[in-house]
Amino acid sequence: MKIGIDQIGFATSNYVLKLDHLAEERGIDPNKLSKGLLMKEISIAPLTEDIVTLGATAAEQILTVEDKQVIDMVIVATESSIDQSKAASVFIHGLLGIQPFARSFEMKEACYAGTAALDYAKLHIKQYPESKVLVIASDIAKYGIEAPGEPTQGAGAIAMLISQNPRILEFNDDNVAQTRDIMDFWRPNYSTTPYVNGVYSTQQYLDCLETTWKEYQKRHGLALADFAAVCFHLPYPKLALKGLNKIMDQSLSQEEQRKLQENFDKSILYSQKVGNIYTGSLFLGLLSLLENSENLKAGDKIALFSYGSGAVAEIFSANLVEGYEKQLTTHRLEQLNQRQELTVATYEELFFAEAQLDENGSAVFSGYDDQVYALVQIDQHQRKYIKVEKPS
Ligand code: CAA
Repeated sequence: MKIGIDQIGFATSNYVLKLDHLAEERGIDPNKLSKGLLMKEISIAPLTEDIVTLGATAAEQILTVEDKQVIDMVIVATESSIDQSKAASVFIHGLLGIQPFARSFEMKEACYAGTAALDYAKLHIKQYPESKVLVIASDIAKYGIEAPGEPTQGAGAIAMLISQNPRILEFNDDNVAQTRDIMDFWRPNYSTTPYVNGVYSTQQYLDCLETTWKEYQKRHGLALADFAAVCFHLPYPKLALKGLNKIMDQSLSQEEQRKLQENFDKSILYSQKVGNIYTGSLFLGLLSLLENSENLKAGDKIALFSYGSGAVAEIFSANLVEGYEKQLTTHRLEQLNQRQELTVATYEELFFAEAQLDENGSAVFSGYDDQVYALVQIDQHQRKYIKVEKPS
């Protein structure tokens, strides 16, 4: 049975910070961000936009009324959870109006959990071929003002509908995972921002890539030449470029190497404008590749490298389905260019705002008219979401 990604949707916030402005304000050379990290812009989410609203918005783009009657599992992968107990997927299940006899839960292992969610979805569909699973990877990456990771922050969600006979990508059963108990990046329950051993995290990312890739090749007898493209987890694109260079097979022809590089360049286009969206970053790279590459064709095999600090890494592959391009959009970059630009001062205010709860644990929010879904209030510690009515 063929199982894979039938549809992919993406949502980000409506605000953007240009990194040239951030560099100027922080007194650093803009080339450090544009060339050193390969970053251009980052999406900034206000209080009314969180992993639930972003996830629901991404899913809304791809689901039909029929899908909502068939989906029997909703998984949200996140590392910026809004509740220690209730899963974001339960809110999203309700907002989207998915039929009630479904499982909804959250998965966590830093940026890796989206891949674990796909693995679980695949197993579920193997057992129940008629079912469909909604996998959402949704995160707001916040490092803090003047933190080394500040230019790599971001906000966004990827929604993937997983089914048999998918129309975009068919998974191959070739996953190879690796776990290492390390402290490269973590966020204790009492902290709103992560603790990061930055340089160490980059070394671990690259070493996990190299060792997992070696094991993957050994187990499956595959070489880089078998792949049309490699997608990487994208904490910032420059690290992934180092990853590509690390696994590049020098015995490939110049033409083959050029093609892999060209597809890599297409895979980072969205992340360069959105920033790190943690669990969704790998799949934002995949979407960027599929929507912008000019040399992919049905049957091409794409490798995916997932990395979550802590750390878990996984490499797997999927093949493009005939007609995949009909399921995608071509105006994503234009849409990103329509986000409202923020000054550095407004970004600091908006991104790091905390809800000011009264003595009953309540607060009412405003300014969400341009969102699709919004957090409109916290009422006695309960988050209240709506689908925003648009004037007809
Ligand atoms: N012109 C061009 N390039 C310049 C430059 C200039 N004027 N000034 C500096 N650079 C280059 C540097 O040479 C460096 O390039 P190399 O990596 O090729 O050496 C690059 O810009 C970055 O500069 P620094 O090494 O000085 O590092 P930094 O202070 O900007 O911090 C970072 C980089 C540690 C990665 C920081 O962004 C960070 O902590 N990020 C968060 C952690 C992270 O993303 N880790 C990735 C692996 S963990 C993971 O993948 C999970 C996850 O999503 C978080």
